[in-house]
Amino acid sequence: MTEGFAELHVHIEGSLEPETILALAERNGVELPYRDLDDLRARYRFTDLQSFLDLYYANMQVLRTAQDFADLARAYFARAARGGVRRAEFFFDPQAHTSRGVPLAEVAAGLADAVAGAHSEFGMDVAMIASIVRDRPVTEAQEVFGELLRLGAPIIGLGLDSAEVGHPPSLFEDVFARARAEGLHVTAHAGEEGPPEYVWQALDLLGAERIDHGIRSLEDPELVARLVDERIPLTVCPLSNVRLRVVDTLADHPLRRMLDAGLAVSVHSDDPAYFGGYVDDNFAALRDSLDLTDDEQSVLQRNSWEAAFL
Ligand code: HPA
Ligand code: ZN
Repeated sequence: MTEGFAELHVHIEGSLEPETILALAERNGVELPYRDLDDLRARYRFTDLQSFLDLYYANMQVLRTAQDFADLARAYFARAARGGVRRAEFFFDPQAHTSRGVPLAEVAAGLADAVAGAHSEFGMDVAMIASIVRDRPVTEAQEVFGELLRLGAPIIGLGLDSAEVGHPPSLFEDVFARARAEGLHVTAHAGEEGPPEYVWQALDLLGAERIDHGIRSLEDPELVARLVDERIPLTVCPLSNVRLRVVDTLADHPLRRMLDAGLAVSVHSDDPAYFGGYVDDNFAALRDSLDLTDDEQSVLQRNSWEAAFL
């Protein structure tokens, strides 16, 4: 069995644990609308992607300085390494910070500092992927991407996330063309809540090398054939899908059907502080609820290494 996991679908801001939110609020003098930890925790019940995103972006207000971002990333690396992650390619959302007045230089410097120490401190190989927040203006995406390049932020790729429906990949053709021209890798969230058409667009218009989620691809046999033929990786996040009600229960999760269809699927955590766990927790839950076998877990782990931007 391949050693450890390659975690390819995790949003670093989604690893911000409730206790850390309160601690950073205290450190930065941020007034939060929560009475206490229990009151905050009570809000982690989601009805769809948007209901999660509302809390996810609201909680980010406690992240202000390069030190905050470095601490956030280090806490994630420590927990991920304990759970068997040996490589992590994490997303961050530059616009979620610049849009509330945090300089991109602070975000990039803090994350880059943590990434630079990940190998020596945690025995983990780490890379970062800037993600376009697709429900914000296209012009803003272009500006922020240009600023990342000017800053020399050590990113290996460009992604696309946030509210999917109504914000198709086609809007972002230009910025992704620029990323490819810069030699960056390209991945995009598609087919989580959005239709298979968005997966086609991510492949054909953005040049996506991986699809994040992609579970609705199963609705389109022609798309499945393409994904199988070209061995396009799909980074699937089972606990996320249940918590955002994309699937009803873990027992109903299409992961096994995706494996059986020959798709290059792997398992990831998405927003581990919000959805009930890290990548090891996702595997544990799948073993319990989907009767995932050792062989299936080996295939999923191997797929994660094959899909890594190495
Ligand atoms: N989907 C889309 N955007 C996101 C997610 C997600 O699960 N998590 C953080 N941003
Ligand atoms: Zn995601």
